[in-house]
Amino acid sequence: MKPTIALTINGIQRSVETELGETLLEVLRREGMKSVKLGCDTGDCGACAVLLDGSAVNSCMVLAVAADGKDVDTVEGLEHDGHLHPMQQAMVDAGAVQCGFCTPGILVSGIDLLSHNPDPTEDEVKEALGGNLCRCTGYVKQVDAILATARLQAGETDA
Ligand code: FES
Ligand code: FES
Repeated sequence: MKPTIALTINGIQRSVETELGETLLEVLRREGMKSVKLGCDTGDCGACAVLLDGSAVNSCMVLAVAADGKDVDTVEGLEHDGHLHPMQQAMVDAGAVQCGFCTPGILVSGIDLLSHNPDPTEDEVKEALGGNLCRCTGYVKQVDAILATARLQAGETDA
């Protein structure tokens, strides 16, 4: 018999049938959360990162049954009323998105960081992105975008 688990994905409760041994990554993609990318499948690239009960995890390393009863937040849930999340907009403004494959995982890591450290140093941002691999950008613009988001959320502006 296939296990059925309860997940709250981006605030919406779902009952999801899983296969034995299936990962949270596989379940989320099947449920339409295509921002959750399959990169390495070994916990090394961060492309599959999601917030699980508010903390960033690599969903390829989490068995779906282990997420039973938990809250999962993905990039699909960031936009509100047609507006990008401030960090999404900051990534666009900074030119931090090239192919975009790593972007959802980097957003998840950045949001996790600012949730417990709203005023990070540049080194703290770099450390927070240590598990996110990007083949395109060199990371500078992504770090800038996260720092800009922190300033914005603190009520500061670049003007
Ligand atoms: S796909 Fe999960 S860490 Fe790379
Ligand atoms: S923008 Fe292409 S992998 Fe990061």
